[in-house]
Amino acid sequence: MKIVIIAGARPNFVKVAPLFQEIRRHPQIVPVLIHTGQHYDAPMSDQFFSDLEIQPPDINLGVGSGSHGMQTAEVMQRLEPVLGSVNPELVLVVGDVNSTLASALTAVKLGIPVAHVEAGLRSFDRTMPEEINRLVTDAISDVLFLTEESAANNLLHEGIDREKLHLVGNVMIDALQRFKPRWERSSIFRRLGLDGRSPYAVVTLHRPSNVDDPDTLQNILTALQELSNHLPILFPVHPRVKPQLLRYGHVAWMEPWEDKWCLPQGVVCLEPLGYLDCIALMSRARLVLTDSGGIQEETTVLGVPCLTFRENTERPVTITHGTNRLIGADPGRIVREALWTLEHPPHPSGPPPFWDGRAAERIIGILLERLPPGSPQAMATTKSFAHHS
Ligand code: UD1
Repeated sequence: MKIVIIAGARPNFVKVAPLFQEIRRHPQIVPVLIHTGQHYDAPMSDQFFSDLEIQPPDINLGVGSGSHGMQTAEVMQRLEPVLGSVNPELVLVVGDVNSTLASALTAVKLGIPVAHVEAGLRSFDRTMPEEINRLVTDAISDVLFLTEESAANNLLHEGIDREKLHLVGNVMIDALQRFKPRWERSSIFRRLGLDGRSPYAVVTLHRPSNVDDPDTLQNILTALQELSNHLPILFPVHPRVKPQLLRYGHVAWMEPWEDKWCLPQGVVCLEPLGYLDCIALMSRARLVLTDSGGIQEETTVLGVPCLTFRENTERPVTITHGTNRLIGADPGRIVREALWTLEHPPHPSGPPPFWDGRAAERIIGILLERLPPGSPQAMATTKSFAHHS
Protein backbone atom coordinates (compact mmCIF):
# COMPACT_ATOMS: atom_id res chain seq x y z
CA MET A 1 0.00 0.00 0.00
CA LYS A 2 1.61 3.21 -1.17
CA ILE A 3 0.83 6.36 0.82
CA VAL A 4 2.15 9.77 -0.10
CA ILE A 5 2.69 11.96 2.97
CA ILE A 6 3.09 15.67 2.38
CA ALA A 7 4.96 18.11 4.62
CA GLY A 8 5.83 21.67 3.77
CA ALA A 9 6.26 23.87 6.80
CA ARG A 10 7.79 23.63 10.26
CA PRO A 11 4.72 22.44 12.19
CA ASN A 12 4.03 19.82 9.49
CA PHE A 13 7.39 18.18 10.18
CA VAL A 14 6.49 17.68 13.84
CA LYS A 15 3.18 16.08 12.84
CA VAL A 16 4.57 13.64 10.28
CA ALA A 17 7.40 12.38 12.55
CA PRO A 18 5.23 10.09 14.74
CA LEU A 19 3.32 8.92 11.66
CA PHE A 20 6.57 7.73 10.07
CA GLN A 21 7.62 6.01 13.29
CA GLU A 22 4.31 4.16 13.35
CA ILE A 23 4.45 3.26 9.65
CA ARG A 24 7.81 1.56 10.23
CA ARG A 25 5.91 -1.03 12.28
CA HIS A 26 3.76 -1.91 9.24
CA PRO A 27 5.94 -3.08 6.37
CA GLN A 28 2.88 -3.48 4.13
CA ILE A 29 2.77 0.35 3.92
CA VAL A 30 5.22 2.02 1.54
CA PRO A 31 5.43 5.67 2.55
CA VAL A 32 6.58 8.31 0.09
CA LEU A 33 7.50 11.62 1.73
CA ILE A 34 7.08 14.74 -0.37
CA HIS A 35 8.47 18.00 1.01
CA THR A 36 6.88 20.93 -0.79
CA GLY A 37 9.76 23.24 0.15
CA GLN A 38 7.44 25.89 1.63
CA HIS A 39 9.96 26.14 4.48
CA TYR A 40 13.52 25.72 3.28
CA ASP A 41 15.99 27.43 5.66
CA ALA A 42 18.12 24.96 7.63
CA PRO A 43 16.66 25.98 11.04
CA MET A 44 13.08 25.90 9.65
CA SER A 45 13.42 22.55 7.88
CA ASP A 46 16.64 20.43 8.02
CA GLN A 47 16.97 20.87 11.77
CA PHE A 48 13.47 19.44 12.26
CA PHE A 49 14.23 16.42 10.08
CA SER A 50 17.32 15.63 12.14
CA ASP A 51 15.78 16.43 15.56
CA LEU A 52 12.72 14.31 14.81
CA GLU A 53 14.61 11.54 13.00
CA ILE A 54 12.44 11.85 9.90
CA GLN A 55 13.60 10.04 6.78
CA PRO A 56 14.91 12.42 4.12
CA PRO A 57 12.15 13.45 1.71
CA ASP A 58 11.80 11.20 -1.33
CA ILE A 59 10.96 14.28 -3.38
CA ASN A 60 11.39 17.98 -2.64
CA LEU A 61 9.21 20.24 -4.78
CA GLY A 62 11.29 23.28 -3.82
CA VAL A 63 8.44 25.79 -4.06
CA GLY A 64 9.90 28.30 -1.57
CA SER A 65 8.21 31.54 -0.49
CA GLY A 66 5.72 33.67 -2.37
CA SER A 67 2.27 35.18 -2.18
CA HIS A 68 -0.49 32.82 -1.13
CA GLY A 69 -1.74 32.37 -4.68
CA MET A 70 1.72 31.82 -6.05
CA GLN A 71 2.81 29.38 -3.33
CA THR A 72 -0.42 27.36 -3.59
CA ALA A 73 -0.26 27.27 -7.38
CA GLU A 74 3.43 26.26 -7.38
CA VAL A 75 2.74 23.31 -5.10
CA MET A 76 -0.16 22.20 -7.30
CA GLN A 77 1.76 22.57 -10.53
CA ARG A 78 4.82 20.69 -9.26
CA LEU A 79 2.93 18.02 -7.33
CA GLU A 80 0.50 16.97 -10.06
CA PRO A 81 2.98 15.11 -12.30
CA VAL A 82 4.69 13.58 -9.26
CA LEU A 83 1.43 12.12 -7.95
CA GLY A 84 0.67 10.92 -11.46
CA SER A 85 3.89 8.91 -11.59
CA VAL A 86 3.95 7.72 -7.94
CA ASN A 87 0.27 6.69 -8.22
CA PRO A 88 -0.42 6.26 -4.48
CA GLU A 89 -3.52 4.72 -2.95
CA LEU A 90 -3.82 7.67 -0.58
CA VAL A 91 -2.41 11.14 0.01
CA LEU A 92 -2.10 12.16 3.64
CA VAL A 93 -1.88 15.86 4.53
CA VAL A 94 -1.43 17.44 7.96
CA GLY A 95 -2.26 20.81 9.54
CA ASP A 96 -3.45 23.95 7.82
CA VAL A 97 -0.64 25.55 5.87
CA ASN A 98 -0.74 26.49 2.19
CA SER A 99 1.02 23.22 1.31
CA THR A 100 -1.79 21.28 3.01
CA LEU A 101 -4.51 22.91 0.95
CA ALA A 102 -2.59 22.78 -2.33
CA SER A 103 -1.70 19.10 -1.94
CA ALA A 104 -5.21 18.02 -0.99
CA LEU A 105 -6.64 19.89 -3.96
CA THR A 106 -4.14 18.37 -6.38
CA ALA A 107 -4.75 14.82 -5.14
CA VAL A 108 -8.52 15.02 -5.12
CA LYS A 109 -8.60 16.33 -8.68
CA LEU A 110 -6.51 13.31 -9.73
CA GLY A 111 -9.07 11.04 -8.06
CA ILE A 112 -6.69 10.04 -5.25
CA PRO A 113 -8.32 9.73 -1.79
CA VAL A 114 -7.11 12.27 0.78
CA ALA A 115 -6.75 11.89 4.53
CA HIS A 116 -6.42 15.07 6.62
CA VAL A 117 -4.74 14.93 10.02
CA GLU A 118 -5.84 17.74 12.38
CA ALA A 119 -9.17 18.30 10.65
CA GLY A 120 -12.14 20.35 11.82
CA LEU A 121 -10.39 23.06 13.83
CA ARG A 122 -12.09 26.42 13.31
CA SER A 123 -11.26 29.92 14.53
CA PHE A 124 -14.32 31.29 12.67
CA ASP A 125 -12.02 34.07 11.50
CA ARG A 126 -11.83 34.02 7.72
CA THR A 127 -9.18 36.73 7.63
CA MET A 128 -6.78 34.07 8.90
CA PRO A 129 -5.17 32.29 5.93
CA GLU A 130 -5.11 29.00 7.81
CA GLU A 131 -8.90 29.11 8.33
CA ILE A 132 -9.47 29.09 4.56
CA ASN A 133 -6.95 26.26 4.21
CA ARG A 134 -8.76 24.26 6.91
CA LEU A 135 -12.25 24.80 5.46
CA VAL A 136 -11.31 23.81 1.93
CA THR A 137 -9.08 20.88 2.88
CA ASP A 138 -11.77 19.38 5.10
CA ALA A 139 -14.47 19.85 2.47
CA ILE A 140 -12.54 17.79 -0.10
CA SER A 141 -10.91 15.13 2.11
CA ASP A 142 -12.16 11.55 2.35
CA VAL A 143 -10.96 10.76 5.87
CA LEU A 144 -10.75 13.33 8.65
CA PHE A 145 -8.63 12.73 11.76
CA LEU A 146 -9.57 15.00 14.67
CA THR A 147 -7.59 16.18 17.65
CA GLU A 148 -10.50 17.39 19.77
CA GLU A 149 -14.25 17.08 20.19
CA SER A 150 -14.98 20.65 19.02
CA ALA A 151 -13.69 19.66 15.57
CA ALA A 152 -16.41 17.00 15.22
CA ASN A 153 -19.10 19.57 16.04
CA ASN A 154 -17.65 22.01 13.49
CA LEU A 155 -17.51 19.44 10.72
CA LEU A 156 -20.99 18.06 11.40
CA HIS A 157 -22.30 21.63 11.38
CA GLU A 158 -20.73 22.08 7.94
CA GLY A 159 -22.62 19.04 6.70
CA ILE A 160 -19.63 16.69 6.51
CA ASP A 161 -20.54 13.02 6.64
CA ARG A 162 -20.12 11.66 10.18
CA GLU A 163 -18.58 8.49 8.80
CA LYS A 164 -15.51 10.39 7.63
CA LEU A 165 -14.66 11.60 11.16
CA HIS A 166 -12.26 9.91 13.57
CA LEU A 167 -11.34 11.47 16.90
CA VAL A 168 -7.82 10.09 17.32
CA GLY A 169 -5.91 12.58 19.46
CA ASN A 170 -2.97 14.77 18.61
CA VAL A 171 0.13 13.68 16.71
CA MET A 172 1.96 16.80 17.92
CA ILE A 173 1.57 15.47 21.45
CA ASP A 174 2.78 12.05 20.28
CA ALA A 175 5.97 13.81 19.15
CA LEU A 176 6.29 15.72 22.44
CA GLN A 177 6.08 12.50 24.44
CA ARG A 178 8.17 10.26 22.17
CA PHE A 179 11.04 12.72 21.96
CA LYS A 180 10.98 13.64 25.66
CA PRO A 181 14.20 11.76 26.49
CA ARG A 182 15.92 13.76 23.74
CA TRP A 183 14.53 17.23 24.51
CA GLU A 184 15.23 16.73 28.21
CA ARG A 185 18.91 16.38 27.28
CA SER A 186 18.98 19.61 25.22
CA SER A 187 21.99 21.84 25.89
CA ILE A 188 19.97 25.01 25.24
CA PHE A 189 20.07 26.11 28.90
CA ARG A 190 23.84 25.98 29.06
CA ARG A 191 24.12 27.65 25.65
CA LEU A 192 21.86 30.51 26.72
CA GLY A 193 23.41 30.94 30.14
CA LEU A 194 20.23 29.89 31.97
CA ASP A 195 20.88 28.35 35.36
CA GLY A 196 17.70 26.21 35.40
CA ARG A 197 16.28 28.00 38.48
CA SER A 198 15.86 31.67 37.56
CA PRO A 199 12.55 32.50 35.90
CA TYR A 200 12.28 33.44 32.24
CA ALA A 201 9.54 33.73 29.61
CA VAL A 202 9.52 32.51 26.00
CA VAL A 203 7.86 34.45 23.16
CA THR A 204 7.01 33.35 19.63
CA LEU A 205 5.29 35.49 17.02
CA HIS A 206 4.64 34.98 13.34
CA ARG A 207 0.97 35.51 12.44
CA PRO A 208 0.56 38.11 9.67
CA SER A 209 -2.13 39.83 11.78
CA ASN A 210 0.46 40.47 14.52
CA VAL A 211 3.70 41.02 12.65
CA ASP A 212 2.85 42.53 9.26
CA ASP A 213 1.20 45.66 10.66
CA PRO A 214 3.96 47.86 12.20
CA ASP A 215 1.62 49.38 14.82
CA THR A 216 0.46 46.01 16.12
CA LEU A 217 3.99 44.65 16.23
CA GLN A 218 5.18 47.81 17.96
CA ASN A 219 2.43 47.41 20.60
CA ILE A 220 3.45 43.84 21.32
CA LEU A 221 7.14 44.76 21.51
CA THR A 222 6.39 47.66 23.87
CA ALA A 223 4.56 45.24 26.15
CA LEU A 224 7.42 42.76 26.01
CA GLN A 225 9.95 45.48 26.90
CA GLU A 226 7.84 46.39 29.93
CA LEU A 227 7.48 42.76 30.95
CA SER A 228 11.21 42.17 30.59
CA ASN A 229 11.70 44.41 33.65
CA HIS A 230 10.23 41.50 35.62
CA LEU A 231 11.92 38.50 33.95
CA PRO A 232 14.12 37.90 30.90
CA ILE A 233 12.24 37.17 27.70
CA LEU A 234 13.69 34.78 25.15
CA PHE A 235 12.34 35.28 21.66
CA PRO A 236 13.27 32.79 18.89
CA VAL A 237 12.45 34.82 15.80
CA HIS A 238 10.61 33.46 12.76
CA PRO A 239 12.28 34.66 9.52
CA ARG A 240 9.24 36.66 8.42
CA VAL A 241 9.56 38.80 11.58
CA LYS A 242 13.30 39.40 11.55
CA PRO A 243 13.36 42.34 9.11
CA GLN A 244 10.71 44.20 11.15
CA LEU A 245 12.61 43.58 14.39
CA LEU A 246 15.87 44.80 12.94
CA ARG A 247 14.08 48.00 11.94
CA TYR A 248 12.62 48.35 15.46
CA GLY A 249 16.07 48.07 16.95
CA HIS A 250 15.37 47.99 20.72
CA VAL A 251 16.05 44.31 21.15
CA ALA A 252 19.28 42.38 21.74
CA TRP A 253 20.32 39.48 19.52
CA MET A 254 22.07 36.48 20.94
CA GLU A 255 23.67 33.51 19.21
CA PRO A 256 22.55 30.42 21.12
CA TRP A 257 25.63 28.48 20.08
CA GLU A 258 27.93 30.95 21.87
CA ASP A 259 28.54 29.95 25.46
CA LYS A 260 27.07 32.68 27.65
CA TRP A 261 27.65 32.30 31.33
CA CYS A 262 25.58 35.25 32.50
CA LEU A 263 21.79 35.20 32.69
CA PRO A 264 20.14 36.96 29.74
CA GLN A 265 18.33 40.21 30.45
CA GLY A 266 15.60 42.16 28.68
CA VAL A 267 14.10 40.92 25.42
CA VAL A 268 16.67 38.62 23.84
CA CYS A 269 16.13 37.60 20.23
CA LEU A 270 17.44 34.28 18.97
CA GLU A 271 17.63 32.64 15.58
CA PRO A 272 14.82 30.08 15.09
CA LEU A 273 15.29 27.11 17.41
CA GLY A 274 15.13 23.46 16.43
CA TYR A 275 12.37 21.24 17.82
CA LEU A 276 14.29 19.76 20.75
CA ASP A 277 15.72 23.08 21.94
CA CYS A 278 12.38 24.84 21.58
CA ILE A 279 10.41 22.28 23.60
CA ALA A 280 13.14 22.12 26.23
CA LEU A 281 13.14 25.90 26.59
CA MET A 282 9.34 26.07 26.87
CA SER A 283 9.20 23.18 29.33
CA ARG A 284 10.99 25.15 32.06
CA ALA A 285 9.61 28.60 31.24
CA ARG A 286 7.56 30.47 33.81
CA LEU A 287 5.39 31.78 30.98
CA VAL A 288 4.99 31.34 27.22
CA LEU A 289 3.54 34.14 25.08
CA THR A 290 2.69 33.14 21.52
CA ASP A 291 0.43 33.35 18.50
CA SER A 292 1.22 29.80 17.35
CA GLY A 293 -1.44 27.10 17.24
CA GLY A 294 0.89 24.22 18.04
CA ILE A 295 2.45 25.96 21.03
CA GLN A 296 -0.99 26.43 22.62
CA GLU A 297 -1.25 22.62 22.46
CA GLU A 298 2.27 21.84 23.61
CA THR A 299 2.03 24.13 26.66
CA THR A 300 -1.27 22.46 27.54
CA VAL A 301 0.56 19.16 27.96
CA LEU A 302 3.75 20.65 29.42
CA GLY A 303 1.58 22.42 32.02
CA VAL A 304 3.32 25.73 31.31
CA PRO A 305 1.14 28.91 31.41
CA CYS A 306 0.40 30.15 27.88
CA LEU A 307 -0.92 33.56 26.86
CA THR A 308 -1.97 33.83 23.22
CA PHE A 309 -1.75 37.10 21.27
CA ARG A 310 -5.08 36.46 19.54
CA GLU A 311 -8.79 37.09 20.12
CA ASN A 312 -9.81 33.59 19.03
CA THR A 313 -8.44 30.08 18.89
CA GLU A 314 -9.32 27.12 16.73
CA ARG A 315 -8.07 24.93 19.61
CA PRO A 316 -10.57 25.60 22.45
CA VAL A 317 -9.50 22.49 24.32
CA THR A 318 -6.27 24.31 25.22
CA ILE A 319 -8.42 26.73 27.22
CA THR A 320 -10.90 24.25 28.73
CA HIS A 321 -8.29 21.62 29.63
CA GLY A 322 -4.99 23.44 29.37
CA THR A 323 -3.18 26.57 30.48
CA ASN A 324 -4.04 28.83 27.54
CA ARG A 325 -5.70 32.28 27.70
CA LEU A 326 -6.44 34.63 24.81
CA ILE A 327 -5.11 38.13 25.43
CA GLY A 328 -5.10 39.94 22.06
CA ALA A 329 -2.41 42.47 21.18
CA ASP A 330 -3.18 45.49 23.39
CA PRO A 331 0.07 46.36 25.25
CA GLY A 332 -1.59 47.25 28.59
CA ARG A 333 -3.57 44.03 28.57
CA ILE A 334 -0.53 41.92 27.66
CA VAL A 335 1.47 43.27 30.62
CA ARG A 336 -1.47 42.99 33.07
CA GLU A 337 -2.31 39.43 32.03
CA ALA A 338 1.33 38.35 32.08
CA LEU A 339 2.00 39.76 35.56
CA TRP A 340 -1.24 38.27 36.89
CA THR A 341 -0.39 34.88 35.39
CA LEU A 342 3.09 34.93 36.91
CA GLU A 343 1.44 35.43 40.32
CA HIS A 344 -1.41 32.97 39.70
CA PRO A 345 -0.17 30.22 37.37
CA PRO A 346 -3.10 28.19 36.00
CA HIS A 347 -3.28 24.46 36.52
CA PRO A 348 -4.25 22.31 33.54
CA SER A 349 -7.22 20.06 34.28
CA GLY A 350 -5.54 17.03 32.73
CA PRO A 351 -4.73 16.21 29.13
CA PRO A 352 -7.59 16.49 26.63
CA PRO A 353 -9.21 13.18 25.65
CA PHE A 354 -6.95 10.98 23.47
CA TRP A 355 -3.90 13.23 23.91
CA ASP A 356 -2.06 10.18 25.18
CA GLY A 357 0.75 9.76 22.68
CA ARG A 358 -1.12 7.16 20.61
CA ALA A 359 -2.73 9.28 17.88
CA ALA A 360 -0.39 8.04 15.13
CA GLU A 361 -1.10 4.45 16.10
CA ARG A 362 -4.85 5.08 15.78
CA ILE A 363 -4.47 6.89 12.46
CA ILE A 364 -2.42 4.15 10.85
CA GLY A 365 -4.73 1.51 12.32
CA ILE A 366 -7.76 3.16 10.75
CA LEU A 367 -6.03 3.56 7.39
CA LEU A 368 -5.05 -0.11 7.37
CA GLU A 369 -8.64 -1.04 8.16
CA ARG A 370 -10.04 1.16 5.42
CA LEU A 371 -7.39 0.58 2.81
CA PRO A 372 -6.60 -3.13 2.71
CA PRO A 373 -3.61 -3.73 0.45
CA GLY A 374 -4.56 -4.34 -3.16
CA SER A 375 -7.91 -2.55 -3.04
CA PRO A 376 -7.23 0.99 -4.15
CA GLN A 377 -10.93 1.84 -4.29
CA ALA A 378 -11.61 0.74 -0.73
CA MET A 379 -11.34 4.27 0.62
CA ALA A 380 -14.34 5.42 -1.35
CA THR A 381 -16.59 2.54 -0.29
CA THR A 382 -15.62 1.45 3.21
CA LYS A 383 -17.69 2.74 6.12
CA SER A 384 -16.07 4.05 9.25
CA PHE A 385 -17.22 5.11 12.67
CA ALA A 386 -17.33 8.54 14.18
CA HIS A 387 -15.20 8.30 17.32
CA HIS A 388 -12.38 5.81 17.46
CA SER A 389 -10.94 4.80 20.78
C1 UD1 B 1 3.47 29.25 7.64
C2 UD1 B 1 1.98 28.88 7.70
C3 UD1 B 1 1.49 29.07 9.13
C4 UD1 B 1 2.36 28.30 10.10
C5 UD1 B 1 3.79 28.74 9.93
C6 UD1 B 1 4.73 28.02 10.84
C7 UD1 B 1 0.63 29.37 5.69
C8 UD1 B 1 -0.38 30.27 5.13
N1 UD1 B 1 1.18 29.77 6.86
O1 UD1 B 1 3.58 30.62 7.93
O2 UD1 B 1 0.16 28.57 9.21
O3 UD1 B 1 1.91 28.55 11.40
O4 UD1 B 1 4.19 28.48 8.57
O5 UD1 B 1 6.01 28.59 10.79
O6 UD1 B 1 0.94 28.35 5.13
N2 UD1 B 1 10.77 32.34 5.31
C9 UD1 B 1 12.14 32.18 5.27
N3 UD1 B 1 12.63 30.91 5.32
C10 UD1 B 1 11.84 29.82 5.42
C11 UD1 B 1 10.44 30.01 5.47
C12 UD1 B 1 9.92 31.27 5.42
O7 UD1 B 1 12.89 33.14 5.19
O8 UD1 B 1 12.36 28.68 5.48
C13 UD1 B 1 10.23 33.72 5.29
C14 UD1 B 1 10.02 34.23 3.88
O9 UD1 B 1 10.25 35.60 3.91
C15 UD1 B 1 8.56 33.99 3.67
C16 UD1 B 1 8.00 34.22 5.05
O10 UD1 B 1 8.98 33.72 5.93
O11 UD1 B 1 8.00 34.82 2.71
C17 UD1 B 1 6.70 33.53 5.32
O12 UD1 B 1 6.81 32.13 5.05
P1 UD1 B 1 5.48 31.31 4.65
O13 UD1 B 1 5.80 29.87 4.51
O14 UD1 B 1 4.80 31.98 3.52
O15 UD1 B 1 4.53 31.52 5.89
P2 UD1 B 1 4.84 31.45 7.46
O16 UD1 B 1 4.71 32.78 8.04
O17 UD1 B 1 6.08 30.67 7.74
